[in-house]
Amino acid sequence: MNSTPSLTQDELKTLVGQAALQYVVPGQIVGVGTGSTVNKFIDALATIKDQIPGAVSSSVASTERLRGHGIAVFDANEVGELAVYVDGADEIDPQGHMVKGGGAALTREKIVAAQSRCFVCIADESKWVPVLGTFPLPVEVIPMAAQRIARQFAALGGQAILRLKDGQPLVTDNGQHILDVTGLQITDPLAFESQINNWPGLVTVGVFAHQKAHVCLLGTAAGVKTVEF
Ligand code: 5RP
Repeated sequence: MNSTPSLTQDELKTLVGQAALQYVVPGQIVGVGTGSTVNKFIDALATIKDQIPGAVSSSVASTERLRGHGIAVFDANEVGELAVYVDGADEIDPQGHMVKGGGAALTREKIVAAQSRCFVCIADESKWVPVLGTFPLPVEVIPMAAQRIARQFAALGGQAILRLKDGQPLVTDNGQHILDVTGLQITDPLAFESQINNWPGLVTVGVFAHQKAHVCLLGTAAGVKTVEF
């Protein structure tokens, strides 16, 4: 690990975004996540775009950025299993379980992750936590189920609030709403994800345990640390 003292969080994101290029398989379509860290990866990917046919994207925002760089974007249904999916996280624990969805793209992120053999998580070290649950847990819901799902979280000790944008409920790329849930300690992420995903009207819970990371490239003051799970 090379020493990289006094880098800003933005510089750490650039570093891990560039480091993820080593996992891109020449000649193969790459799965691409969403967020400010992934944006750094997309910018780095542009430098080797002639080596890949293109990408499967997890959001409208990432699609626009990929296409802006001249990288072809394929529909997930047009392609088979992907070798690699690169995405950020809001939290990642020492087993590679994550909380995701801070950018409201969790459903498509989980779909592309499920279609990929290897999940490479790129994150600055502020995302590394011993137990998931400090970052408000994003949950995508069908709007008519929002209040009942909020009550179900309350019964577990959580407080769910509807995510707003410009004073109105945020509408996801899938036309649904997001609840952000605080007050949960997610000590068994696999069981938690399975339990919550069964609630009627709940589209996707932002715990990624069944689709956990295989590798995390963590941007630290001492450089990029590679953690394998
Ligand atoms: C978007 C996500 C992002 O990966 C997560 O929010 C991290 O974003 P950033 O890299 O901007 O910190 O899950 O839905």
